[in-house]
Amino acid sequence: MSKSRRKFISFIDKAMADGAQLPPEELMFSYKGILYPATVCSPDIFKALESFEARSDDVFLAGYPKSGTNWVGQILTDLVTSSAKYNEDTNSLDDEELEEFPYLEVGDTEKYQRMAKLPSRRVILTHLLPQNLPASVFKNKAKILLLIRNPKDVATSFYHFSNDLSPLPSYKTWDEFFSAFMSGEMPWGSYFDYVFEWNKHVDDRNVMTITYEALKENRALGVKQISEFFELHLSEEDIQGVVDRSSFQAMKENSEKTHGTFGNVLFRKGGVSDWKNLFIEDHNQKMDMTFEERLGGTKLGEMLKYGKYCKA
Ligand code: A3P
Repeated sequence: MSKSRRKFISFIDKAMADGAQLPPEELMFSYKGILYPATVCSPDIFKALESFEARSDDVFLAGYPKSGTNWVGQILTDLVTSSAKYNEDTNSLDDEELEEFPYLEVGDTEKYQRMAKLPSRRVILTHLLPQNLPASVFKNKAKILLLIRNPKDVATSFYHFSNDLSPLPSYKTWDEFFSAFMSGEMPWGSYFDYVFEWNKHVDDRNVMTITYEALKENRALGVKQISEFFELHLSEEDIQGVVDRSSFQAMKENSEKTHGTFGNVLFRKGGVSDWKNLFIEDHNQKMDMTFEERLGGTKLGEMLKYGKYCKA
């Protein structure tokens, strides 16, 4: 992963410094009924985002926060960078000038004008609901990799992340966080809404779904499927390099370079079932019931294998 991350790191460092200065009630703002962190998003950015023009060869990653988006984001960037070496006219991919914060809705209002000048293929991450993406994403048939993770591990990861990161509200107790998570008072909204809304696109030709758990179980297979979906033509050796560089251990060890001090918070456990350390009977009952009510019988609900990964 040679792509420059200097701007990414200074952007996050600034958000952390800004977050530490803000009173808790000013950390979040609401836009069209959904909460977002005020240190990295703004209503003006959302307005500017409407002008964003997606390309059919864009490489999109959609995922609810804490589903492993930094992990799969690295896999995608690494795949695209590795495949670009076969392309003589894309030798500028390492240029720091061309680096943009990878999450579509995070940055500044001029970001989309700069993005229009970036060479293909652009790797773009987003936590947004499908209906809140700029219309051109679906109209221009950009391919989207949808990443989902079981709700109990997402909640567990989000709880620790919120308490360890100054731009996000912190919680005195796990109970307090759990109530907020279940009612959807989270940055980027409700997990259940997210999976429910994206389920409407599960059969779209341009959408491929992958679960955190499946990727964890067989990273080599997942990376191969992802590269085929985006039609990135790579040798077995290239693919193996991407697989090796995306293990939890490799990413954690490299995190100083890729994420700066933020890496110490982000690369926490990187596993499945850590929820067992927080959930008690009452949480299990509530989560099981809500999952069944909101996502029972949906294709994405099935893909999450709730019985295997979330039953106590
Ligand atoms: P945990 O908090 O459970 O450890 P996101 O990038 O969407 O914020 O997701 C963060 C979660 O992905 C964290 O989960 C983090 O440890 C996990 N993660 C990051 N890199 C990973 C990797 N290479 N393999 C597995 N999990 C990874």
